[in-house]
Amino acid sequence: MSAAIVCLTEALPHSALTITVPPGGLTLQGRIQVPGDKSISHRALMLGAIAAGETRIKGLLLGEDPRSTARCFRAMGAQISDLEGEWVSIQGLGIGHLQEPAEVLDAGNSGTTLRLMLGLLASHPDRFFTVTGDDSLRSRPMSRVVTPLTQMGAQIWGRKENSLAPLAVKGQRLQPIRYVSPIASAQVKSCILLAGLMVAGQTTVVEPSLSRDHSERMLSAFGADLSRDPERSSVTLNGPAQLIGQTVIVPGDISSAAFWLVAAAITPGSELVIENVGVNPTRTGILEALAQMDADITLENQRVVTGEPVADLRVRYRPLKSCTLAGDLIPRLIDEVPILAVAALFAQGKTTIRDAAELRVKESDRLVVIASELQKLGATVVEQPDGLEIEGGASLQGNAVDSCTDHRIAMSLAIAALRARGSTVIFRAEAAAVSYPDFIKTLTKVCHPT
Ligand code: S3P
Repeated sequence: MSAAIVCLTEALPHSALTITVPPGGLTLQGRIQVPGDKSISHRALMLGAIAAGETRIKGLLLGEDPRSTARCFRAMGAQISDLEGEWVSIQGLGIGHLQEPAEVLDAGNSGTTLRLMLGLLASHPDRFFTVTGDDSLRSRPMSRVVTPLTQMGAQIWGRKENSLAPLAVKGQRLQPIRYVSPIASAQVKSCILLAGLMVAGQTTVVEPSLSRDHSERMLSAFGADLSRDPERSSVTLNGPAQLIGQTVIVPGDISSAAFWLVAAAITPGSELVIENVGVNPTRTGILEALAQMDADITLENQRVVTGEPVADLRVRYRPLKSCTLAGDLIPRLIDEVPILAVAALFAQGKTTIRDAAELRVKESDRLVVIASELQKLGATVVEQPDGLEIEGGASLQGNAVDSCTDHRIAMSLAIAALRARGSTVIFRAEAAAVSYPDFIKTLTKVCHPT
């Protein structure tokens, strides 16, 4: 494609991404792959570190977030090979053998690293751990995991009544729990299940609706005794568990594929095939939402790879219509709301997103940031207490916008910019590397002037 469409300016300490749409517009064409699933990558590293024997991982996401997980578990004694290799190999320590680290464990920007790891740390008797993260993570609520862990007997201290990192943890022998979670959160569920691994008896988590189930699938594959009742969104772990190292092949991340699905769905003349995408039903809310909007997306070559369903996704441009997204669907597309808001701008009619207040405590307050940044491009997006109202039929004009250091906002703004007249400058675009280091490279590859 023409080099003029996408231009990255490295203006340290931050980069700015300039996207210039040629007067005739552009289309997206090609076959692409997206990086490994972030949720599965974290879990493969963590379970590999605590299982007995060797775990081998192919397709691991090389984003900043899994690097944070690897750094923390190396600091606790796990031998994890070079992450850049085709296969990553982990010599696991065995359950209960995480070592007391000599340093503060730094989870960077990653809520999954910090929250899941807390379950493991809290259940290692007589060991002391301190954990922290970047500015964004230190402002995100930890009480959602500290509260159930404390009910299991954990000792955790932190700012604002133990709800904000940095946190200090004194590991304990924990008690079983039946925890009825007020939120559908895979991070909460996974934290409690990991804490239950060393507990004798049943650890049960009940959610208001089913959140992503990668932990359940992978814990079972590593040998944990787990029973599930999807109807009631409940899962029970019978502990104590023995985990044995496994081979994990990480599929492409549907949350990263979502940017290309929407980009092609809103840009006339486009057709993309995104190969090897994880289509676990607890993650395919984005496909259901886009189907409601009448997008032309087909699943090809469906298969199951190390316990996770995978497919190639073909998307072609077709005019979209508005929809309402709410209820149990929201946890299954929670990370895709920013890019769905961009899709809604180019649908006919007004789209309403509700029951999504969780977005306020993600890497940024995404309801505030989506509304404010898309408004700068001329969109009509109204923030609601638990969602957004988005006017379709938008006619965007390039402008200066800001990722607010949030990776999914950076990439959503880049896709919106493909349908804006003139040039859009996205400040702090380097945030994309948290989950998608090659995003700009792929953008450059698939965009063609018409
Ligand atoms: C994740 C769960 C989700 C999601 C996050 C990754 C996980 O968070 O937003 O990006 O890997 O468990 P919640 O479970 O807190 O909603």
